[in-house]
Amino acid sequence: MHITIRQLQVFDSVARNLSYTRAAEELHLTQPAVSMQIKQLEGSVGLPLFEQIGKKIFLTQAGEAMLGHARNIMQNLSAAADEMDDLKGVDSGRLKVAIASTVNYFATQLLAVFSREHPTVEISLDVTNRELLLSRLEANIPDLALMGKPPADLDLVAEPFMDNPLIMVAPPDHSLAQKKNIHLADLQDEDFVVREPGSGTRVAMERFFSEQDFVYRKGMELMGNEAVKQGVEAGLGLAIVSVHTVEQELTLRRLVKLDVLGLPIMRRWYVAHRRGKRLSATARAFREFVMKAGSNAR
Ligand code: PGA
Repeated sequence: MHITIRQLQVFDSVARNLSYTRAAEELHLTQPAVSMQIKQLEGSVGLPLFEQIGKKIFLTQAGEAMLGHARNIMQNLSAAADEMDDLKGVDSGRLKVAIASTVNYFATQLLAVFSREHPTVEISLDVTNRELLLSRLEANIPDLALMGKPPADLDLVAEPFMDNPLIMVAPPDHSLAQKKNIHLADLQDEDFVVREPGSGTRVAMERFFSEQDFVYRKGMELMGNEAVKQGVEAGLGLAIVSVHTVEQELTLRRLVKLDVLGLPIMRRWYVAHRRGKRLSATARAFREFVMKAGSNAR
């Protein structure tokens, strides 16, 4: 079998996403390039790895078996690279960080400071919502992730480093903008602009509303924090967002925080990695840096 590591990476991405298009996006390749790599791999293996039923693709039995081997090979390679980086020391390593989209509002500053202190470290940053971030961790792609509280069923080591209060925002001319102690019952006739499914912010908002027995009226569903903020500014409805995403809008009074009883929802940001993952010296240094930056921000 003549197989390249690149083919295995492409295969892993298509198998995780069950889509050539999404794999192409993830790997910054064109879709024909992805199909070509899979065809070549299937040629070397001598069996089809995917089958198409209707519009969906599925792994064949050979595909399932091959995927296990592909992941072992990639994990061994990445462990070898980490061990070599470790021997070279903090400053010669690479660092793969995955962050939840909401973390992006302060993570880039953190990375900028870290990168000034360690200018030779090669950093790659992957920004996605919570659900995609969890699938990246499951596939053992990032060294470290900055995210909301991880679920217990994924075997992660996670430590909180900063508070993440979620607040409700409205346009400044909203009728409740000046009101104190707003009850959720006062918001029955309001539309809520919400994040896409897969967003941790959305999960936390829906959990809060259901704990309070409040059935919210869903307005528009928008992709990402920027779209939600613009939706609220444009008068499409109210929204629950992380305070980190709206600092500027609150200062410039493009949005106001509503004084709703029970809010803020107090969440925390965590720095996480797969249990059993051998963190390189660079990853350990970044982890310590994040923990310290978090305690300074308190
Ligand atoms: P998200 O944030 O809403 O951008 O997915 C992650 C989280 O709050 O857990």
